[in-house]
Amino acid sequence: MSVLADRETPLIRNCWYVLALASEADRTLRSRKVAGQAVVFYRRLDGNVAVLRDRCPHRSFPLSKGILDGDRLICNYHGLTFAPDGRCIAKPTDPTNAAPLSAGTYPVVERDAVIWIWPGDPALADEALIPAVPWLAQDGWDLVSGYLRFPANYVALHENLMDLSHFAFLHAGNIGTPAYAAAPFRVKVEDGRINLRRVLENAPLPSLLSVPTELGDKPVTRETDTWWMSPGLNLTHSNVHDPDPAPGRPGTYAFKVIHFITPETQNSTHNFWAVARDFRLGDPAIPEHTQASFKVAFQEDLEALDWIETLQGEEGLEFGEIHLGSDRGGLLMRREMKRRAWREAAPAGSGPAVRSDVVGQARRLDDHPSEEAA
Ligand code: FES
Ligand SMILES: [Fe+2]
Repeated sequence: MSVLADRETPLIRNCWYVLALASEADRTLRSRKVAGQAVVFYRRLDGNVAVLRDRCPHRSFPLSKGILDGDRLICNYHGLTFAPDGRCIAKPTDPTNAAPLSAGTYPVVERDAVIWIWPGDPALADEALIPAVPWLAQDGWDLVSGYLRFPANYVALHENLMDLSHFAFLHAGNIGTPAYAAAPFRVKVEDGRINLRRVLENAPLPSLLSVPTELGDKPVTRETDTWWMSPGLNLTHSNVHDPDPAPGRPGTYAFKVIHFITPETQNSTHNFWAVARDFRLGDPAIPEHTQASFKVAFQEDLEALDWIETLQGEEGLEFGEIHLGSDRGGLLMRREMKRRAWREAAPAGSGPAVRSDVVGQARRLDDHPSEEAA
């Protein structure tokens, strides 16, 4: 058994994931799958969001195909009626049946313009664990955002985002430059989060950054700080420093690249992404350019992960992939994901049975100091 999470590792459920953008929740019943379970969500008359399991406890009819009557949700097969907290409040075909019944509901928090859901043990759903993402709805920042469904396991998408060395190859035409692949980077682990920091000095920007900053091919310093925050969030702080700004132009341009990652099933992933910037606010030319560039880049990632997922699925994982130095951030992330999956699967107080080859793999990762230059 590997110490690294992969496409076969059970999905981590004890985590806050983004279910939807806040703007998606309205008076329409919407269905979405999170960690293998379909949920239905809608906005109640008081403005709060209700989220129930999208499966009637009677005969598994999807409640999202039912009727929203005020705040009540009526199953369209035999009429069982549910309150927003999941309680069944009417059984029209069996009115004398007083047995308590629930459709099941989930801890949900609406914050920073998104709706977070905890698909795991409700007793562990601590709101303090929700990462702050203020740039989505904060003065001084403008946004470009989108959604993609990846036909791949969420670990692969996390690893892709912790691997900036692929920019120069897979995204050569838009976000990659040759110098970026070999630029030195540093990895550190902090409170179970993994940080990858890369600074590229005195180099021109890729078009994705040079166009919105209007810096053209001027050599500048590009600082990229990527954080694996949790199984549900990858966050990048990207700063471009112009050492010699023209009069009236900023010396620093800040971007926040936010990837909310929500496992849909074992082999598919929701990706809600957003790029916030602190300059040229309100300029309509930027969304158009950034949206188009990211669309191309993310499509390249999507195709790559689709091909990899298909190959790994057809031929299995016994192939024995090799690791490169540039994989270090991704490997630490996969180890943390595996730890969390193990912890979740293990009964309280018991540890996983660890074989000697597992210990060996862990030691190879531990050979590196927690902070290093590569
Ligand atoms: S399946 Fe919902 S009431 Fe029968
Ligand atoms: Fe990519």
